Amino acid sequence: MVVQELEKRFWESYGGASEPEICRSPGRVNLIGEHTDYNGLPVLPMAIMQEILIAFRPREDQRVDLRNVDPSFPELRFENGPDIPASPAGEWDNYCKAAIQGLNKHFQVRTFRGMDVMVTSTLPIAAGLSSSSSLVVACALAYARVLGVRLEDDISRLELAEILAEAEHYVGTRGGGMDQAVILNCLQNHACKINFFPLRVEVAPLPADCAVVVCDSMVKVKKSGAALAKYNAGPRSCALACALVEQQLHREFGDGIELNRLGDLWFGPLCLTHAEAAEICEHAIPEPHVTVADAAARLKCTPEQVRTRWLGDLPEPERGFPLQAKLRHQLTEYRRVETARDALLAGDSELFGQLMNASHESCAKDFEISSPELDALVSAARDAGALGARLTGAGFGGATVNLVPKDICGDFIKQVEETYYCGYRNFDGPAPIFVAHASQGAGYL
Ligand code: GLA
Repeated sequence: MVVQELEKRFWESYGGASEPEICRSPGRVNLIGEHTDYNGLPVLPMAIMQEILIAFRPREDQRVDLRNVDPSFPELRFENGPDIPASPAGEWDNYCKAAIQGLNKHFQVRTFRGMDVMVTSTLPIAAGLSSSSSLVVACALAYARVLGVRLEDDISRLELAEILAEAEHYVGTRGGGMDQAVILNCLQNHACKINFFPLRVEVAPLPADCAVVVCDSMVKVKKSGAALAKYNAGPRSCALACALVEQQLHREFGDGIELNRLGDLWFGPLCLTHAEAAEICEHAIPEPHVTVADAAARLKCTPEQVRTRWLGDLPEPERGFPLQAKLRHQLTEYRRVETARDALLAGDSELFGQLMNASHESCAKDFEISSPELDALVSAARDAGALGARLTGAGFGGATVNLVPKDICGDFIKQVEETYYCGYRNFDGPAPIFVAHASQGAGYL
């Protein structure tokens, strides 16, 4: 139905003789492993059935024409070329520009082709379900076709995911590679455990006795504006923490050691155990807060250099940056992801749920990415019988993910509807809750 309607809208809008091709790209929900990907630490998401669909057809010139079935997205167009200037933050063509520029650079494209694009979506926007990366992937698949690049023959799904993770930095977020990796590599009925640098994906079956229920907090998180600045605070603080940990490594093992990212403590040549990594981190950051002046003194550079190299425009809190807690989240969340994968393989839903709950606490207290609404929604879900409930995605709003025994799923939804949506939010429309089914990765229809 959606596909037929999309084709119809394409014809009505663009006319022409040749048929458009269609590609699809799912959204994702992250089960556990939050804000760890950009540090090279694993995550455990799944792709969902809600998706973005694109009808596309190559053009004779270099123009990329973007239209959307949803009239709230304005028609936009731009010229393809060696350096595509970004539109103002928040414009939806930036996601397509990011994909095209990423592929142009990777394939050293010299003949810049245009395309006509019509987009439709069943994926809630700005709900923490990765609608932006899904659009990047869909546009990349369309443009790859236009270039004559064949997915899986000329470029592997892993390779494309890596290129697009980097390419999406074009829009201003300093995200890791979780979204693109799961969107391109997931399998039906499975979650994906993803490792980075290099990217590896392994699948694990979802619990047979439970449903994965997604509840939208109804607080929008667009990957632009204030949410972007809040998101980027994670990668920036972790980068500074990483520099301080590297300094500690120099003290303990000599100057030759490089720590490009926190994950290199375990995955690099160092190959530390959890206990060893935790000890190094404790020595590196013995106090809860680190000011720019402290960091400069320790890193033997000026405060100005600390800002330009690591913090960018991140404002300094009065007591300094809470780096110790940020590091603690990274260390504990990594272990939770490993245990959660084992729990899935063992079919242990109870344990998986407990890990989700612990992850939410860590995201809220140590990494500080929750909000009163997310906390209220999580607590409503636990009261309604979820084995595990946590925020999912970048945080600060968006959705929660809940592991709910299948036999109480109906009652669960009813109770959360009453407590959170009607009670807490005073909302009497249909509650934005859905049971998520794990989908296979993006592709052509
Ligand atoms: C966003 C980013 C991801 C990841 C999550 C938080 O979705 O795009 O790379 O960092 O936030 O886990």
